[in-house]
Amino acid sequence: MARTLQTPDMDKILSLSKRRGFVFQSSEIYGGLASTWDYGPLGVELKRHVKEAWWRSVILGRDDMVGLDAAILMAPQTWVASGHVQNFTDPLVECTNCNQRFRPDHLFIYEVTQNGRFLGYASALDQEEASRRASVLLPTAPGEYRQLPIFAGTLHQLMGGSSNIPCPFCKMVGKLTDTRVFNLMFKTFMGPVEDTASVVYLRPETAQGIFVNFKNVLDSSRKKLPFGIGQIGKAFRNEITPGNFTFRTREFEQMEVEFFVKPGTDEEWLQKWRDARFQWYVDHGIRRENLRLRRHAADELAHYAKDCYDIEYRFPWGWAELEGIADRTDFDLKAHAQASGQDLSYFDEETKERYVPYVIEPSGGVDRATLAFWLDSYDEEQDKEETRVVLHLHRQLAPVTVAVLPLSRNARLAPTAQGIYQQLRRRFTTQYDDAQSIGRRYRRQDEIGTPYCVTVDFDTLDDHCVTIRDRDSMAQVRLPVAELVPVLQDKVEHGW
Ligand code: GAP
Repeated sequence: MARTLQTPDMDKILSLSKRRGFVFQSSEIYGGLASTWDYGPLGVELKRHVKEAWWRSVILGRDDMVGLDAAILMAPQTWVASGHVQNFTDPLVECTNCNQRFRPDHLFIYEVTQNGRFLGYASALDQEEASRRASVLLPTAPGEYRQLPIFAGTLHQLMGGSSNIPCPFCKMVGKLTDTRVFNLMFKTFMGPVEDTASVVYLRPETAQGIFVNFKNVLDSSRKKLPFGIGQIGKAFRNEITPGNFTFRTREFEQMEVEFFVKPGTDEEWLQKWRDARFQWYVDHGIRRENLRLRRHAADELAHYAKDCYDIEYRFPWGWAELEGIADRTDFDLKAHAQASGQDLSYFDEETKERYVPYVIEPSGGVDRATLAFWLDSYDEEQDKEETRVVLHLHRQLAPVTVAVLPLSRNARLAPTAQGIYQQLRRRFTTQYDDAQSIGRRYRRQDEIGTPYCVTVDFDTLDDHCVTIRDRDSMAQVRLPVAELVPVLQDKVEHGW
């Protein structure tokens, strides 16, 4: 069945999320904590499967990779050496009328004219709002709106003290402060004394845990270049404007690789990793048309990067980054070698050369990837008189892999159905459901993306066969219970 390429309205995902238990607002009983989210019973399985798929592909599936799980708290010197204390900042503007704070580089600014006459500027904080409300951005003056490109230079010019850009919240003109820079790292204190000597940071990226362990891993795993270290873990950023559900939050998970290569081979490895990571999203179910690669412009590159590509997804609010693949050069290893006094160079046995490796870094967000897989899988199909809501999630990502459904809640069927359920749950994420009609239960499983439903009926008691139903085609096959595990294993591995 043909599916539209359009990603669904966020309201549909939010309602499904709440109704079925994918994601809840954090601390909801206390009114919630802004932009923080808790993964519910289905969300945690979906996210866990995304991480497992990444780990299988990037760590277990390659001879040139090993894994790591470094601590969130690190020696504070780490963040001085890495440049984060100095450079990990965002521009911040405040409105002195409504006291809202926001990132000026996230602003959409429009020049408004009428019959060629300049009327003023209009502003909005997201493109959706801007296009929806274009006619009311400057309510007294409906005119023609031309979006202005925002670069660092124009920003300063437009936002500076005598700014005539209206606040994107209260729309008052002349109330915005000058742009200030704001460090995004969360600070806390180690031990009982809260003084400057006990300040530690919650890591803003998992990457530094890898760099400081480069020598440990090299010496203990006897890996030779090129090789990489990957890890999945929490990162924290005091974002000025979090938002768009789980897309931009202050606490999130990253899945990062630092791949160490001989200088001079870095550009080639950048391309290999860029292509491999792009393909991973496609192989796990995101439609290619909803993905694109975007190379960073020189003035966009992070302070450590020589080159960078973003893999972007077509979110409901526009194209936005899922993962960046950067050439970090020898910036971090050199910086840590200098700050720690340790030798972080590599001796190449083959060429008898000593050098500091260059690093290629594919760095993705677990929450963003989970959201993109989820959004891209959502569909509403017309099935006879009904609308079937279905998540066409990749079979290895779906929160529940197999549902065992006795035809009805019946004392004769239950022992057999339960026996099959106990057998399957040892190998697959499995659910047992015997409430309401079988049709309703199929719909419930479709809505959460369960790829395979196993139906146990009265014939099963005699012929020891069950029916497997495929979520996408709704095709059914009948097979002996004894063959169920290997057949399902094959389907989960290779598809229906
Ligand atoms: N070590 C490099 C690094 O951290 P980044 O582009 O700042 O690079 C990598 O972050 C990935 O982490 C992003 O592509 C995104 O998927 C995820 N990410 C970054 N900030 C995030 C946030 N505030 N909320 C959710 N995910 C975020």
